[in-house]
Amino acid sequence: MEELVSLCKRRGFIFQSGEIYGGMQGMYDFGPLGVELKNNLKSAWWSSMVYETDNIEGLDASILSNPMVLRHSGHEDTFSDPMVDCRACNARWRSDLIDDSKCPACKSTDLTDPRPFNLMFKTSVGPIDDGSSFAYLRPETAQQIFTNFKNVVDSSSKTLPFGIAQIGKAFRNEITPRNFIFRVREFEQMELEFFVTPGTDDDWHKLWVQKRLDWWVQQGVPIESIELYDVPKDELAHYSKGTIDVMYKFPHGLEELEGIANRTDFDLGSHTKNQDELDITAKVMENKSSNTRLAIQDIETKKWVVPYVIEPSAGVERGILAILNEAYNIEELGDGKERTVLKLKPHLSPIKAAVIPLKKNNEDLVKIASDLKNTLQKLSLGRIVLENSGNIGKSYRRHDEIGTPLCITVDFESIDDNSVTVRDRDTMNQERLSIEALPAYLIDIVND
Ligand code: GAP
Repeated sequence: MEELVSLCKRRGFIFQSGEIYGGMQGMYDFGPLGVELKNNLKSAWWSSMVYETDNIEGLDASILSNPMVLRHSGHEDTFSDPMVDCRACNARWRSDLIDDSKCPACKSTDLTDPRPFNLMFKTSVGPIDDGSSFAYLRPETAQQIFTNFKNVVDSSSKTLPFGIAQIGKAFRNEITPRNFIFRVREFEQMELEFFVTPGTDDDWHKLWVQKRLDWWVQQGVPIESIELYDVPKDELAHYSKGTIDVMYKFPHGLEELEGIANRTDFDLGSHTKNQDELDITAKVMENKSSNTRLAIQDIETKKWVVPYVIEPSAGVERGILAILNEAYNIEELGDGKERTVLKLKPHLSPIKAAVIPLKKNNEDLVKIASDLKNTLQKLSLGRIVLENSGNIGKSYRRHDEIGTPLCITVDFESIDDNSVTVRDRDTMNQERLSIEALPAYLIDIVND
C-alpha cells in the first residue's frame, strides 16, 4: 500500500486534502491524473447503466438534504456506528473495529461502553445560524432518487422494471477514517435504484449481483480477487431484506467494494403519502408530511403498487483503490533493472497516448507531433499529451508508471514517410505505423 500511496502522490493521482496546513483526516484530493482516472471510472459505470440499457434513467440531485428526507429514510435514528472513548488517552474508536478490547493507540483497556454515534454531517442553511434551519449533507445518494421517483416516472413514462442511476458525493463523519482512500469522510458513490414488481425481487437481486461482478472484471478487478459475502440477518442495514457485499482483497485486507441490497418497498413506502392505502410490506415510520404518492399503477389491474428496489451501490474511491492495486506492477527487465508499470485497462487510463518528438523543440518534428496530438484528441477518447521533453527513455518510464497505453514517437523518418514508432505499454513492443492508421489503432486499443 505504501508504494502505491507514494506513486499516487508523486505522479499526481491523489493528495492529502489541505496538506499545506497539516492535512485533514479522511479527506483526499484527486490530482491531474486522479481526476482523469476517476472520471473514466464514473463514465464506464454511467455508460453501462444509462447508455447500454433502455430502462435506466440518470439523475443528479442535491447534496444538501431536507432533514425530513433523512428522518423518514431512518437515517436520523439508525445511521450510527458504535463509539468508545479511551479514558487513558481520550482517543475515540469504532468499537466494532477494535479486536482485543484495547485502545489501538495506547493499549489501555479502560474504555467506555459503546454508544451510538450518528455519522451524518449537518450544516446551517440561510443567513441565520441559530440551529432552527439546517440541512444534512447526504450520507448516501440513494434518498434523492426515492424522493424524485414520481418526477422521473412522470417525465420519462417508465413502467416496471426500471432504474434510476446517480453518481455523486456522499458524506459520513466516520469515527476512524483509515487505509488511504478506503474509508473517508467525503467520497463518491455510484448508485442504482432498480424498481421491480414485488415478488420478482429475489431474481432481480441475483441478476444484479452477476452484472456487477462482470462489470468489475471489465474494469480490471479479477474475479479471483473478489469474494461475495451474504450479509447475515443481524448485520443487515435497517432497510434491507438481503444484501450481498462484493468483497475485494484490498492491500489491508478483504473488505467491501460494493453492496447490492434488496431494499424492498421500505424507501418508497417511507416517503410516500397515504401509506394506509398502499400495501406496504416493510415496517415504516408514519409519514404525515409527504405530499406525493410514490407508487406506480399496474396497467391491467389499475392497482397502485409500491415497487421493491434492488440497489447496487459502489464507492468510487474504493473502486479506484482496487483498480490501482490490481494495475500496479513492478517488472524485472534483466540486468538488475526493473520498471514500474500501471497496467490499467486503456479505457480507464488517465492519458490515452503520449506523442513524443524525438528531438526537443525541433520545429518539423514538433509540428508533426502537435498535429497528430490534435487529430487524436479530436477522437474524444480521453486525454492525449504532447511530450516535448526530448528524452524518450524518461518519457517511456513516466508513461509506464501512469498507465498510458501508447507512446508514439515522431522521428526524422516521419518527415519523409509519414510514419511513427508506436510503443505498447504492456509488451514494450515497438512497431512502425503510418500516421493515417493511428486513429483507428487507438480507437481499437481504448475500446478494448
Ligand atoms: N445506499 C447504500 C449505501 O450507501 P453502504 O454500504 O453504506 O450502502 C455503499 O455504501 C458503498 O459506498 C460501499 O460499498 C463503499 O464502496 C462506499 N462507501 C461507504 N462508506 C464509505 C467511506 N466512508 N469511504 C469510502 N467509501 C465508502
